[in-house]
Amino acid sequence: MDDRFNTIAGWTLASGIVALGLASISSHYFRATKDQRPDKMGYEIAGVVKSGGAAVAVPIEALLGKADPAKGADVFKKCMSCHTVTQGGANGIGPNLYGVVGDAIAQGRGGFAFSDALKAHTGKWDFKLLNQWLTDPRAMAPGTKMTFAGLDDPQDRANVIVYLNSQGSNLPLPAAPPAGAAGAAAGAAAPAVALVGDPAKGADIFKRCGACHTINQGGANGIGPNLYHVYGDDVGKGRGGYAFSDGVAHKGGKWDAAALDKWLTSPRDDIAGTKMTFAGLDSAQDRADVIAYLKAN
Ligand code: HEC
Ligand code: HEC
Repeated sequence: MDDRFNTIAGWTLASGIVALGLASISSHYFRATKDQRPDKMGYEIAGVVKSGGAAVAVPIEALLGKADPAKGADVFKKCMSCHTVTQGGANGIGPNLYGVVGDAIAQGRGGFAFSDALKAHTGKWDFKLLNQWLTDPRAMAPGTKMTFAGLDDPQDRANVIVYLNSQGSNLPLPAAPPAGAAGAAAGAAAPAVALVGDPAKGADIFKRCGACHTINQGGANGIGPNLYHVYGDDVGKGRGGYAFSDGVAHKGGKWDAAALDKWLTSPRDDIAGTKMTFAGLDSAQDRADVIAYLKAN
């Protein structure tokens, strides 16, 4: 009886020491430099689902095309307290990630001791799964050892994924969803996704509109109407007496961001019989950029 009590007391003490040891190891690692430490420290309450999870709905394929591996290298600084990515780099708190895109989930990696939670996922790290993982690791594999809150910004995720892809994988990027699907997705998800448009990039995209449109104040109508202050203005009205098609002239409403996004996805699907013989912009980011440019002019 006494013996058993001593054994139990001994184990209790031992586990206390182990716990203390782990606490000091983790505080040692997590006291790294500011931009190396995990996004969120401390403990999350199990079962609390982070609202950021909804961001998974962003079609990653659409963002990968715009992604920049140099920016991804910058984002990767957030991963470096736990990961190396060079060929033959050491495992640390997390496994070395060389060639991880397209590789089997939670296997190999120089014998890294993966959690059962991640090992339960079979299959390979494709672009979609990496996007899901980096949005919220604990949502994808509850109980994972990767104590990293996730990257909220979809473009940061796309950037870091193309960076990882450039480190030993070099897989072809998945095709962006076709215009119709992108339009449907944008129609359903655009307000929630709220891509931030960059008017400077939009000016560049507007070169494709310049064959038919001017945008400066008092600019001439050409094949299409002058577009000065079109953002927020009535659809198919005014514009120096421009002769709109019946479809556009009778559409009604104003050109807000949602209406412009739908129009610029595919003018002919948006307003039947339009004279705007422009196929549309497939990339949601391109549309957001050019809309930001219209708004600024
Ligand atoms: C606080 C430490 C930490 C940070 C920060 C961190 N990770 Fe991890 N990562 C881990 C651990 C630990 C694992 C193993 C997870 C498991 O076994 O459950 C892992 C696993 C992974 C895997 C799966 C590897 C495989 O072979 O299956 C990928 C991919 C990954 N991390 C990418 C990233 C990226 C990209 C970042 C930065 C945006 C990042 N991690 C930030 C600790 C971290
Ligand atoms: C090939 C010529 C052409 C190109 C290229 C073109 N458009 Fe147009 N656009 C037109 C025509 C023609 C109309 C009038 C449509 C109608 O009346 O049916 C129009 C109408 C519009 C309108 C509606 C104006 C209003 O007052 O209701 C907007 C907004 C617009 N275009 C934006 C753009 C943008 C942004 C681009 C580039 C991404 C672009 N267009 C590319 C020819 C073009």
